[in-house]
Amino acid sequence: MSQPSEKALVPFVSVDNMMRLVHHTGVEQVLIDLTRYVEEDFRRWEQFDKTPRVASHSDVGVIELMPTSDGEAYGFKYVNGHPKNTAEGLQTVTAFGLLADVYTGYPVLLTEMTILTALRTAATSAMAAKYLAPKDTDTMAMIGNGAQSEFQSLAMKAIMGVKTVRLYDKDPAATAKCAANLAGSGLTVVSCSSPEEAIEGAQILTTCTADKQYATILSDNMVGAGVHINAIGGDCPGKTELSKGILERSDVFVEFPPQTRIEGEIQQMPEDFAVTELWQVITGAEQGRRDTRQTTLFDSVGFAIEDFSALRYIRDKVAETSFHEDLDMLADPDDPRDLFGMLQRAKV
Ligand SMILES: NC(=O)c1ccc[n+]([C@@H]2O[C@H](COP(=O)([O-])OP(=O)(O)OC[C@H]3O[C@@H](n4cnc5c(N)ncnc54)[C@H](O)[C@@H]3O)[C@@H](O)[C@H]2O)c1
Repeated sequence: MSQPSEKALVPFVSVDNMMRLVHHTGVEQVLIDLTRYVEEDFRRWEQFDKTPRVASHSDVGVIELMPTSDGEAYGFKYVNGHPKNTAEGLQTVTAFGLLADVYTGYPVLLTEMTILTALRTAATSAMAAKYLAPKDTDTMAMIGNGAQSEFQSLAMKAIMGVKTVRLYDKDPAATAKCAANLAGSGLTVVSCSSPEEAIEGAQILTTCTADKQYATILSDNMVGAGVHINAIGGDCPGKTELSKGILERSDVFVEFPPQTRIEGEIQQMPEDFAVTELWQVITGAEQGRRDTRQTTLFDSVGFAIEDFSALRYIRDKVAETSFHEDLDMLADPDDPRDLFGMLQRAKV
């Protein structure tokens, strides 16, 4: 059988190569770079195709496709969310994604995105915190110590200068895992035995739990004025983390309102509940944090443009490093109309 031509090949970043790439660059540097890429794309938000992600729900989880395009490149991510998975030895969230050239429609990158999603989610959280968290933030609470938690903590260290992370998970084994992984990171890690203890003295409260229900990880009376809440885990219909009272007295910042109203914490609120779009804070059209008493809330659900930024970042990294392999992914007959002939000639 003949060798595939150049045109047949698409760079593929496996999990193994993604891990090499991250170690080669340094995890905090990747988070800093990704924050820059996401911020660049939020600044040019209006150039993108935007649609709420296409979700297929079941009793146990969700499978989603997240597409967008800036007119030159097109990207999508496949991602699942299955909170029951960890008990079966599987991850809650796995993902892969693709970037394509709009002019030819040809894919230019296929990559694992499970690790990349954790990185981009953390980078997006840190970018939001840059505009919304109190000045001189040095302590964060990290509630939910699963797969995303170390990434979230390190992004707040790298971008916000957080020095102390206070951990809580309903499963102490998850907290022990997170604390062990963060040892040597330069963060002071405090393991706590209740959410109340975890949020003591913290200016950023990150909730990143996985449970398919209207949960109350933070209740109204727990949260004092002036903090920034980074709510990551409420990202599906019927899956939230905050009490309504917190939403009522916070200024709520979102990615893409038509998606967040379906999936975010604000699904608990009326359709006309006031929110500010984060991209407008970044361009300066809207104000972020106004004063020290204001409670800000980033109601994060994860939007396709963040994945597009992450794909763009990996495409640039692939061009300058060897952390990929070439996949024979696109049929490339000598005569473009002779696809069948190519198949026939390949018969052994
Ligand atoms: N907003 C986004 O862009 C985005 C991106 C990725 C993941 N997520 C969401 O973030 C959440 C966490 O993802 P993950 O991959 O870390 O999941 P995970 O299953 O690895 O970890 C979740 C952790 O939450 C803990 N938990 C569950 N209920 C709790 C409670 N009531 N109090 C304290 N801890 C509790 C679990 O014990 C577990 O350790 C998921 O809900 C996922 O859908 C959001």
